[in-house]
Amino acid sequence: MQEDIGEAFQKGTKYRRDDMDHKHLDWCKKPDAYKRYDDTERIGLPRELPELSKPVLKCISERRSIRRFSSTPLSIRELSILLWASTGIQRVEQGYAFRTAPSAGALYPIETYVISNCVSDLENGVYHYSISDHALELLRRGDLGQMVSNAALGQEMCTGAPVVFIWSSIFERSKWKYRERAYRYIYLDAGHIAENLALSATGLGLGTCQIGAFYDDELNALIGIDGFDESVIYASVAGHPY
Ligand SMILES: Cc1cc2nc3c(=O)[nH]c(=O)nc-3n(C[C@H](O)[C@H](O)[C@H](O)COP(=O)(O)O)c2cc1C
Repeated sequence: MQEDIGEAFQKGTKYRRDDMDHKHLDWCKKPDAYKRYDDTERIGLPRELPELSKPVLKCISERRSIRRFSSTPLSIRELSILLWASTGIQRVEQGYAFRTAPSAGALYPIETYVISNCVSDLENGVYHYSISDHALELLRRGDLGQMVSNAALGQEMCTGAPVVFIWSSIFERSKWKYRERAYRYIYLDAGHIAENLALSATGLGLGTCQIGAFYDDELNALIGIDGFDESVIYASVAGHPY
């Protein structure tokens, strides 16, 4: 790891009154906020939302990191709710779709991938969450839990959990407007998504644990992204607590 890179980043991305860049945005170059995989199998997700009996303050008071999971599979309905609650489309205003988690400039740089280890009615494998139509796109079949665990510094919860959420960033979506300062916002965006996941999971009687420790390029390779224009930044396991 490069020495002092953190301090240089923090210092180099500060807004200062005497050094603000007021360039106009080139709207023709605004990156698309949706990634779509064509020519893959698509799995439509159920859209009904459950009546949650738990108020949000109770979810906040009960949330904790869960690292051991029972063998109960996650249902596709539970997975669907978790995906929507973490980063799905929540409303459309003036033709623009806003999502459940806030995002700097509503630029939505974060993509979500799902490693399915044990979800009822869903083959094990790697999926991309297509936000615009609330569907999963199958990228790779197989039992990949052990590979995810190896990439996550041997953390066994990645094998034992029914699903692992992996969040990547397409940096240009945010850099188009915020340039180098975008990196600050991208990590904040991912945090909001992860907390939405954690609290909604708690509301459903499920557990999660966020994961920041992984060999970045091993996870990038596993989900098939280049690690440069798009790179993994965060992950979380989810399932029924043991
Ligand atoms: C950015 C971030 C990265 C984390 N990475 C890991 C991880 O790689 N492995 C792990 O077991 N827990 C990880 N955690 C969970 C923390 O260890 C946990 O949140 C902390 O111990 C507080 O416990 P609580 O979540 O039960 O309140 C991470 C949490 C955050 C916010």
